[in-house]
Amino acid sequence: MAKASDIVWHEHTVGREQREQRLGHRAAVVWFTGLSGCGKSTIANELDRQLHQRGCGTMLLDGDNLRHGLCAPTESLSVEHGEEFATRFGLGFGEMDREENIRRIGSVASLMASAGLITLTAFVSPYRRDRDRVRRVVEQGGRAGDFFEVFVDTPLEVCEQRDPKGLYKKARAGEIKHFTGISDPYEAPENPELTLDGGSGQSPSELAAEVVALLLQRGVVR
Ligand code: ADX
Repeated sequence: MAKASDIVWHEHTVGREQREQRLGHRAAVVWFTGLSGCGKSTIANELDRQLHQRGCGTMLLDGDNLRHGLCAPTESLSVEHGEEFATRFGLGFGEMDREENIRRIGSVASLMASAGLITLTAFVSPYRRDRDRVRRVVEQGGRAGDFFEVFVDTPLEVCEQRDPKGLYKKARAGEIKHFTGISDPYEAPENPELTLDGGSGQSPSELAAEVVALLLQRGVVR
């Protein structure tokens, strides 16, 4: 068993500040959180487009996509890696699985920020404690003020009516366990850097522009 004390941090020659200087903006993590179907992926995608157009270095990490690779479910790992491996490392939606999902993504987001990128993430991330942990990881790897929690506040009824993937229907029918908002909790942020009203009828582009305004105001982008 490896001991944590036997693993030593190695300082890199090219630092975050030099990478930021080259890119012409500060690095940050913009963490979207909200119910499934609240619009976080769509808004994050639009924000990515707007920042890219401004010449920023960005990366978008999205729950549904990351669960195809880094955070793949048990069933899809067993073919390549066998049952024991798949059971140990495959992720579902129970509370501890989500904790590990968010831990992995948080760590990746922090690395991307170290590369100087404005890193956008779109995960349900329903537990306050998990999100607060990521905030600490990101700020420890960079600076205080590098983490922007953006709550996409869309009423459950609206998300359920949209139901773009038909998952709410399945969850109501009892076909999906631990479904956020139906059979699992969602803990809304208490002090997010920004709350977007996802049920207001504003377009994804207008909502993304609110995030750009915040990043300008906080000096992340110029
Ligand atoms: S998180 O809670 O661990 O942050 P994540 O954002 O990665 O979740 O994945 C959520 C996506 O997986 C949803 O957008 C939805 O499409 C799908 N999904 C499948 N099952 C569930 C479930 N039980 N609860 C929430 N989302 C689910």
